Amino acid sequence: MKYVNCLLVILALAVLSASAASAFPAGSVENPKKGILVVAFGSSMPEGEASIEAVTDAVRKAYPDVETRVAYTSRIIMRKIARENGKIVDEPAIALAKMAYEGFTDVAVLSTHVIPGEEYDDLKAVVDGFKAISLTAPKAGFRFIELSAPLLSGAEDFERLAGVLADTYAEQTKKGAFVFVGHGTHHFANAAYGTLQFALWEKSPNIFVGTIEGLPSYDDVASRLKTSKIKDVWIAPAMLVAGDHAHNDIAGAEPDSWKSLFEAQGYKVTPILEGLGQNAAVRNLILDKLREAWGSFKP
Ligand code: CO
Repeated sequence: MKYVNCLLVILALAVLSASAASAFPAGSVENPKKGILVVAFGSSMPEGEASIEAVTDAVRKAYPDVETRVAYTSRIIMRKIARENGKIVDEPAIALAKMAYEGFTDVAVLSTHVIPGEEYDDLKAVVDGFKAISLTAPKAGFRFIELSAPLLSGAEDFERLAGVLADTYAEQTKKGAFVFVGHGTHHFANAAYGTLQFALWEKSPNIFVGTIEGLPSYDDVASRLKTSKIKDVWIAPAMLVAGDHAHNDIAGAEPDSWKSLFEAQGYKVTPILEGLGQNAAVRNLILDKLREAWGSFKP
């Protein structure tokens, strides 16, 4: 149903933009108008938004001559921030339809997703819709549109992210365990977390990966820890943002948060409430994906 909604929106706006004389100067082959759309799930917490802004700022620094915009995929979050802060963020289909209407010729869509799960599939369906429009109704679409791969998509991505995370928290893993908590999903892309765990164990036996909604679970990580002599546990989200999940499910005061559960086992727990987007080295990995997406259209 979600796909159908998206495609209807795209088609409606594409037809509109093709028929109406746009008030915006359109780009051309000689004079292309290039844009980047940074897409995130979104966050309603300022701490979470800071991570998305850090990625967006890095993109703007890397491509100062390209207009960079932001879209969120979570309608719940979009409605919440509009209601509470009057902040309007578009969903990807709307943001892209506006860019088509405004005459952008080349657009790179930057996925800030960690794994190629359901959120990524939905975004890909939207971008594929725009690719189809570009083929069948070139005036309504873009000359070039491409979606970047998520952070963990190819075999070498796991090695790279594991290297960055192990380096960032080298001090902690010398003294105790570092537990990264990913989102987790019923989607088969959940296998990425297990792969990341193996890549991290290549760096240090004291780094663990768990997830909130998938596998490995809290119990999986806790049973591994039990067989070690570790007393100190650092815990951080393996998510783009340190938002609601990080503040509540991971580090919250409730008895069922990961922090509370580890404390009940006798560990000294230190949460690090920093999203992956707040780590400069991880941002570089995300930007590499954007560079790959631009390909020969590199601005
Ligand atoms: Co969630």
